[in-house]
Amino acid sequence: MELNKMAALEEAQKICGFILNDELTKDEKDQIVRDSIYNFNHHVNPGWLAYRKSVSTNEAFVEWEDSMESFKDLYGNEFIDCLGGFGIYTCGHRNPEILKYVQAQLSRYALHSQELIDPLRGYLAKIMALCTPGDLTYSFFCNGGAEANEMALKLARLATGKNYYISTVGAFHGKSLGAVSMTGKGTYRKPYLPMIQSVQHVEYGNAEAVEVAIKNLISVGETVAGMIVEPIQGEAGIILPPEGYLRRLREICDKYEVVLIFDEIQTGMGRTGTMWACEAEGVTPDILVFGKAFGGGIMPITGIIARPHLWTDDIVNNPWILGSPTFGGNPLACSAAIAAIKYTLENDLPGQIKEKGEYLIGKLRELQKDHPILKEVRGKGFLIGLEYPTSEIGWAVSKGLFKRGVMTGGTLISSKTNRIEPPGILSYETMDKIVQKLDESLTEVEAEFSTTWELVATAKV
Ligand SMILES: Cc1ncc(COP(=O)(O)O)c(C=O)c1O
Repeated sequence: MELNKMAALEEAQKICGFILNDELTKDEKDQIVRDSIYNFNHHVNPGWLAYRKSVSTNEAFVEWEDSMESFKDLYGNEFIDCLGGFGIYTCGHRNPEILKYVQAQLSRYALHSQELIDPLRGYLAKIMALCTPGDLTYSFFCNGGAEANEMALKLARLATGKNYYISTVGAFHGKSLGAVSMTGKGTYRKPYLPMIQSVQHVEYGNAEAVEVAIKNLISVGETVAGMIVEPIQGEAGIILPPEGYLRRLREICDKYEVVLIFDEIQTGMGRTGTMWACEAEGVTPDILVFGKAFGGGIMPITGIIARPHLWTDDIVNNPWILGSPTFGGNPLACSAAIAAIKYTLENDLPGQIKEKGEYLIGKLRELQKDHPILKEVRGKGFLIGLEYPTSEIGWAVSKGLFKRGVMTGGTLISSKTNRIEPPGILSYETMDKIVQKLDESLTEVEAEFSTTWELVATAKV
């Protein structure tokens, strides 16, 4: 494509007009739909739309606005959000109680000079030290989850001078080179091999396997810097470890002086019914990684908080040695995170999610009795997995729900599992509506797959 500044300017002017216009005409809306399909196919990735069509009944739905429990397309079709942006909307979509602080900050200053002291970053770090378990004290803020995990992994090496990492099969920690090295699915690792070589993946939920791996590495002359683990595996298909798993990991890591990293990017901020999932077991990691819902569903902001013994002279003497992301901890993002924590605590969102999660999981399990196609309902709080006999059946149910105005998603590593990860502010009335729509979709899919699903279901795949 030739450099064409005039065309770029005209295009940018047109889109700025759309952004400012709250009353688009039917023609303008149609144009945005056509433009969007063209742009994705020619300038993003043709595969992107093909993938989305599979859940969108072959129509093109262009997202245009959102509010609390739901979002709307350009033409005003409304969808109840049971996907929650894979965990970012715990406080709801554009919650006004968060938005007003972000708007106020935006009208003052948005990004920072990089030289003067930016007070919101300091305040947010203090609030994090107050609202996380144990002696977690020092925070470092970034922009994405994978980036935050990079910081955790680097800090483990920096603080210990050791080398190896232990991770788990099925884990998802992001897709930057370090984070994907820890990720536990071949598809996402293979094209990039060799990556970080010094990592051993062990079975998730099996603490003794961690001890064996550490012992073996040490006995052959290696050193182990850190163990990274999700308190509940999200992308693997909402996998809950056995009771006591995190506590046992804590004991093992203490015994071998290995830095214990909990990746709470998805489970944190109340998602599983406590502010942090590790709180439920009374375990404090050495590094807690957070993201997704941390920005209140409005701004991207992620980070780590670490115990003081990891903040060694190396990092104190050179605060940029770990990383120095230009936008990490910017004032606008910090205002969103501070307001999100305020809203979460003021409204006891974790407590609400605990109760609502028990209610919704109970209703879903009742539904299972009438629909054996729904093989398993598992989860905690509002991190719920619905497992079907095959990926095709899972997609079909997801598509049926979408047609009925309920957005759910698969999980990245296990496509047989649909994810129910709604905003924590969801009402009981909406939960009942979701269950009713799922009932209808299951009935429809059972009819569609009637010849095959029984065979598959009974084959214990
Ligand atoms: C547990 C966990 N860690 C890390 C990530 C990666 O976060 P990001 O997509 O912001 O890089 C995710 C994203 O789904 C996640 O669920």
